[in-house]
Amino acid sequence: MKKIALIYSFNTTKSKNAAKKIIAEIGEDKIDSLNAEEITGEEFLKYDKYILSLPTWFDGELPNYWDEFVPELEDLPLKGKTFALFGLGDQKNYAENFGDAVGIMAEIIEQAGGKIIGSTEVEGYTFENSKALRDGKFVGLLLDQDNQAKLSGKRIKDWVASIGQLLLK
Ligand SMILES: Cc1cc2nc3c(=O)[nH]c(=O)nc-3n(C[C@H](O)[C@H](O)[C@H](O)COP(=O)(O)O)c2cc1C
Repeated sequence: MKKIALIYSFNTTKSKNAAKKIIAEIGEDKIDSLNAEEITGEEFLKYDKYILSLPTWFDGELPNYWDEFVPELEDLPLKGKTFALFGLGDQKNYAENFGDAVGIMAEIIEQAGGKIIGSTEVEGYTFENSKALRDGKFVGLLLDQDNQAKLSGKRIKDWVASIGQLLLK
């Protein structure tokens, strides 16, 4: 069984902590951690299963390190590859752009032929708008360490349970 690539910025604190919780929940032996700030297309393509960390920055944008990789990512053949996305956001101070980065990346991946799993319910969040919304659900897992840190543990547990397809393939 091939490992899952969990790609996050090693230089963050909050996203890194969430990534570590996800790793603990899934099992360290099943995951390779890769630094989003150094990822190359060649390394990326070695995997078939991915979990990507996508915190939203700059009023509804991807952080710089993902922005830098996106032009290369857009040209990679992602057909047959499966992705689960999670992202930190702040629903109170950025209610109009809550978790947008997850939606932005979902679009990029699907354009390149990748499949996304792991959508989640919006119940329990209060926000105005989000690019992560699709048919009334979030296209990935949204975590809000700024306002709902206490809920993140259970949200991660439930999400990991729901992405069995990624874990068992
Ligand atoms: C300058 C700035 C802009 C932000 N913009 C957004 C935003 O548009 N939408 C959102 O949901 N969160 C936004 N946030 C909140 C961050 O996503 C949140 O604090 C997250 O936990 C950061 O995680 P990280 O430090 O691991 O990158 C912003 C935070 C800052 C400081």
